[in-house]
Amino acid sequence: MNILAISGSLRTVSSNTKLIQVLSALAPASIKINIYEGIGELPHFNPDLDGDEPPQAVQEWRKVLQAADGVILSTPEYAHGVPGVLKNALDWIVSSGEFVDKPTAVISASPLTTGGEKAHDSLLLTLGLMTATLVGSSKVANVNMKLAAGNLAANEELKRELQRILSLFA
Ligand code: FNR
Repeated sequence: MNILAISGSLRTVSSNTKLIQVLSALAPASIKINIYEGIGELPHFNPDLDGDEPPQAVQEWRKVLQAADGVILSTPEYAHGVPGVLKNALDWIVSSGEFVDKPTAVISASPLTTGGEKAHDSLLLTLGLMTATLVGSSKVANVNMKLAAGNLAANEELKRELQRILSLFA
């Protein structure tokens, strides 16, 4: 099974990107995680560009989504919303429909105790509109603390949660 994993953060030391890297490392042999890093290259969504020949980066983004058996999105929360770069990537898919019935899991991660719940809920609304099949979701609170080297109990809790997300695709 090929699962496409996408971080909603462009930050070099992003905790969300780290989470999908850990997911990839934890995946059983039956699940191959492909990390897609191209959403930062997409042009701003503009319906005028969404004609017969959309921009190359958009065609590529749609192609990798088509090839995936499932998708995992891991997003930060910016100003109580989904980061623009991730929302922009999803807006390009409304007309082409790659998320229709696509098994999809949503993770939000934040250094705060809320686990990015507002971005999480907003992302679920968008995916619902696109009729993705939500297989499950997780809000990861206190993510920096959980990823901290040496914090073994928190690391273990996070590992179990990411394994739970992976098992949803089995
Ligand atoms: C944030 N952050 C944040 N966190 C949160 O839980 N709710 C929020 O509304 C916001 N808003 C926000 C706005 C801006 C402009 C920045 C830069 C940050 C903090 C955010 O969760 C934190 O920076 C995460 O580490 C970002 O995720 P990555 O990059 O580590 O994946």
